[in-house]
Amino acid sequence: MSVLAINGGEPIRTQGYPGVGSAAGRTVGKQELANLQQVIDSGMMNRSGGKFVPEVEKKFAEHLGMKYCAASTSGTAAIHVAVGAVNPSPGDEIITGPITDIGTVLPILAQNAIPVFGDLRRDNMGLDAEDVERRITERTKAIIPVHLAGNATDMDPLMALAEKYDLYVIEDCSQAYGTLYKGKHVGTIGHIGTFSLQQSKHITCGDGGLTVTNDDELGDRIPLFANKGWPNYGQGERDYVMFGMNYRMTELQAAVVSAQIDKVDWVTARRGEVGDSICDAIKDYPGIEVPSVTEGGQHTYWFLGLMVDQEVVGVSTSYLAGALGKEGAPASAHYIGIPIFMYDVLRNKKIYGDSDFPFNLQPEGQQVRYEEGETPETERILDDLLRISVNENYTDEDTDVIIKCFEKVFDNLDELRESFKTQG
Ligand SMILES: Cc1ncc(COP(=O)(O)O)c(C=O)c1O
Repeated sequence: MSVLAINGGEPIRTQGYPGVGSAAGRTVGKQELANLQQVIDSGMMNRSGGKFVPEVEKKFAEHLGMKYCAASTSGTAAIHVAVGAVNPSPGDEIITGPITDIGTVLPILAQNAIPVFGDLRRDNMGLDAEDVERRITERTKAIIPVHLAGNATDMDPLMALAEKYDLYVIEDCSQAYGTLYKGKHVGTIGHIGTFSLQQSKHITCGDGGLTVTNDDELGDRIPLFANKGWPNYGQGERDYVMFGMNYRMTELQAAVVSAQIDKVDWVTARRGEVGDSICDAIKDYPGIEVPSVTEGGQHTYWFLGLMVDQEVVGVSTSYLAGALGKEGAPASAHYIGIPIFMYDVLRNKKIYGDSDFPFNLQPEGQQVRYEEGETPETERILDDLLRISVNENYTDEDTDVIIKCFEKVFDNLDELRESFKTQG
C-alpha cells in the first residue's frame, strides 16, 4: 500500500498558497489606492512636477541609511543606471554570477562591456571570491554580486578584491530586500546597490527599480543616467551633460512604491520567520542542506533554496520536488535550469547585428567562454536546487503544512526511492 501522494496516497493538502500573482500574496491595498487617487486628482503623472517619485527616493535612501537613491522603471534599468554611472569603456569586463535573471547581464552588454561569469558557492549561492579573483584581468571594471533568493553573498572577500584591484562593486539586491550581511543591509556594502520592484519581488509596483549609493560622484551620475543626462529636469534650463536613458519612474508607479516601502520591514521580517522555521524543521533530514547565513545575517527568502544531495536522498531533485508538490508543498526544482550564459542570447555572442562586438575587443586567446563546464559548481548547484516558495502572507498553518510534507516524504524515503526506480 502506497502512502506517498506521488504513488496515489492521500495528499496532506490540495489547496494552494498565497502567491505573488494575486492580491492574496501581495500587500497592496488602501494606501496604494489613496496615493494613486492623489496622482490622478493632481493630473501630474510625470516626476517633473510630482511628489511621489522624490518621496520614494528619499524614503528608500532613509530606509537603508544611504545618501542617494534614484528611482527607475525596472530592476534591469536600476542595474543599467549603475553600470552607466560606473561608465565602463567598450571591452571592459564586469564579473557577475551565472544564476540570475538576464536583467543583471543585459545592462553590461548595453554599455558595450563584457559579462564574465564567476562560479558560485554552494552554501549561499553567492559569488565565490577565489574564483572571481582568477577571472580578474587588467580590463575588469566592476563586480556585480547577486544576492540570490534573499540570502547574502559573502561580501567581505569581494570588497577586499575590489580594494586590491580598484574595482566597483554593484550589489544586485533585486531578490534581497531586508537581507542582512553581518548586521548590514545588502546594497549598502558595495559602491552601488540596486533593487527591483517587479511583480514577484518583496515589494512591487508591477515593474520598477531603485539604485542607491553613498558615493557623491556616483550619486550625481546615477540620476543623470536615469534621466537622459538631464540635470534639473522640469526645474531649470534644458541641458544634457552625459549619456543616459529615459528610465524615469512615473508618479503612478511611485504612488504604489511609496506605500510599499512602508511595509517592507514587515514583509521581510515575516518571510524571514516563515523561511527560518521551515529550515529549522527540515535541516537534519538526510541529504538536505539549508542555506548558510553568516553571523549577524538575515535571509529574507525571496524563495527558500535547498541543496539536495541526490546520492544521499536516493532520488533526483526533480523527483523529490514532485513528491513534495503532490503532498501539497510549493516545491519546484532547478530554478533557471542552466547557467545564464548558456541561454542563446549570450551563448551565441551575437548582440549587435552580425558583428562579434564587444567580445572581439578581448585579446586573442583571452576571450570569454560561455560554455558548459565554465562554472562547474554553479552547474551542480542548479542540478541540486530545490526551491520552496515563501510568502509573507503564509499563515502558521501554511508553514506547518510545508513542514509536514517534508516529514511525510522523509519518513517514507524507502518508498520514495523504490518508486523513483520505476517512475523517476
Ligand atoms: C537577481 C535579479 N536581477 C535582476 C532582475 C531584473 O529585474 P526586472 O525584472 O525588474 O527588470 C531580477 C528580476 O527579475 C532579478 O531577480
